[in-house]
Amino acid sequence: MDGYLIDSHAHIADDDYDQDREAVLERARAAGVRLVLNIGYDRDSSLRSLDLAERENMVYAAVGYHPHDAEAVTEASYEELRRWCQHPKVRAIGEIGLDYYRDLSPRDAQDRVFRRQLALARELGLPVVIHDRDAHEDLLRVLREEGAGQVGGVMHCFSGDEELARRCLDLGFHIGLGGPVTFKNGQTAQAVARMVPDDRLLIETDSPYLAPVPYRGRRNEPAHVRLVAEAIAALRGLPLESLAEVTSANARRLFRLPDLD
Ligand code: NI
Repeated sequence: MDGYLIDSHAHIADDDYDQDREAVLERARAAGVRLVLNIGYDRDSSLRSLDLAERENMVYAAVGYHPHDAEAVTEASYEELRRWCQHPKVRAIGEIGLDYYRDLSPRDAQDRVFRRQLALARELGLPVVIHDRDAHEDLLRVLREEGAGQVGGVMHCFSGDEELARRCLDLGFHIGLGGPVTFKNGQTAQAVARMVPDDRLLIETDSPYLAPVPYRGRRNEPAHVRLVAEAIAALRGLPLESLAEVTSANARRLFRLPDLD
């Protein structure tokens, strides 16, 4: 395949991969994936993300505090986050957002931690990786109120419909699509995959979660972003090469990743 793929959202620093991380990255390269943005979601995973990015050329890092952990975030946590953001391979703050599905932290804590991280992103000029679970209206309102459009970012594993996608696009955000576009019951994600403009589309795995068909239910890995790309290319009536080119250009621009061609 000409061009290459970028997995814009994976958690391969997690211990799910401690036994075979090298092989996982090798399979990714064999599938045409040349860059992976590894995403933190709490202190430990953010530190692991930095560590992996230091060891692996093809890995870049995002760091931040997921809404699940909002209640545990202190002033010291923000100081640490600010420090991590100085690392040369950190390219985004995330994943951050609101999660009203599991509600593992009280909503006022989620709101507070989300806003603080958006403010930091704006101050540092870093894009944000957004997690939104059943919190669409509040999430859009906070993004607007905090001026998040100034730095932009991605609605990771976007789970809304076309109308919501349009509102996120209007705010200046990218739409990240993953395994659900391959699911038999993935009609909503498939409709979104057809309507996102070329310059706003990102592909991702969210490894180890959300493995695409035919691996659904198993541990996901960055190599499978190729299956996501193939599915979206088919939905948009494009060759895989064009879809790869467009989505990789978007990821490079948004996260200031190197151009490897
Ligand atoms: Ni994730």
